[in-house]
Amino acid sequence: MSFPLIRPRRLRRTDFLRDMVRETRVEVSNLIAPLFIVPGEKVEREISSMPGQYQLSIDTAAKKALRFQELGIRSVLLFAIPESKDEIGSSAWHPQGIIPQAIKALKKVAPEMVVITDLCFCEYTSHGHCGVMKDGQLQNDATLCNLVKQALVHAEAGADIIAPSGMLDGMVHALRHGLDESGYSDLPIMSYAAKFASAFYGPFREAVQSAPEYGDRKSYQMDAANFNEAMREVELDIQQGADIVMVKPGLAFLDVVRAVKDRFKMPTAVYNVSGEYAMVKAAAQNGWIDERRVMLEILTSMKRAGADLIITYFAEAFADLRAKGQV
Ligand code: PBG
Repeated sequence: MSFPLIRPRRLRRTDFLRDMVRETRVEVSNLIAPLFIVPGEKVEREISSMPGQYQLSIDTAAKKALRFQELGIRSVLLFAIPESKDEIGSSAWHPQGIIPQAIKALKKVAPEMVVITDLCFCEYTSHGHCGVMKDGQLQNDATLCNLVKQALVHAEAGADIIAPSGMLDGMVHALRHGLDESGYSDLPIMSYAAKFASAFYGPFREAVQSAPEYGDRKSYQMDAANFNEAMREVELDIQQGADIVMVKPGLAFLDVVRAVKDRFKMPTAVYNVSGEYAMVKAAAQNGWIDERRVMLEILTSMKRAGADLIITYFAEAFADLRAKGQV
């Protein structure tokens, strides 16, 4: 008779045993909650493709930040739908723009909240591309100049971290220099370092009305097939002074997250993007999956892949369940 001597199942017998040997734990402090800020007052407009996520005016966003603070969420990532759009996205660097105002309002109600701002132009341009366009092409260096102006306005308003998301060449370098020259040498940069041109951003583009009017983003965002290029992009951003590197989207790119963590050992973030959220919500609403368990499994997979930080639309739901001891 040859019964197994080694029985991994011994440690799976009870809840307590499983808990004792659990290798990965998602904490509320790992999560960053995105917020979509719109003009107006008392606005709380649900985004149809992202149930449970809202376009919020500054006043309602401040209330949300307070709620986040109570739940132990430490950080928010701000996106804006501006009042007006133009060819170059100039409202992005208006000192009285929606993001600078939102930063101040949030810091007032929740001074310790780490307010991160997304730096990009797709929400601010009439054509929906991420910067200055000429002959159908995104102009890298002209856009960098504008990006620095946007960063300085956010810095001036009190942002705690800036997060450039445009996948422009040299963006971290340009920002680091621009910030340092203006006295913001302590402001960290979380770079969207390996950001892929992905169909998973669909619901987000509805949320901020930023779908490109013509063409796509493939000349600046990466080809999903390219792993080595992702490593090079991350390495370049680290050399240019990125403090946190991000991989985006999450679920279909966890191999990239693992490799980035192993190779560079940097604070690493992953973006659990809108399409990943929408799929879970849609399936759960049909009764096809258990939303709570799927959410926990997804967030755990991201942490297990090596992400220290997870930007996720599930932040509030997770924190709420954690507060009740249900996850
Ligand atoms: C660009 C930006 C996008 C997202 C975050 N920052 C959209 C894009 O690149 O088209 C997507 C986030 C999501 O899908 O949740 N400003």
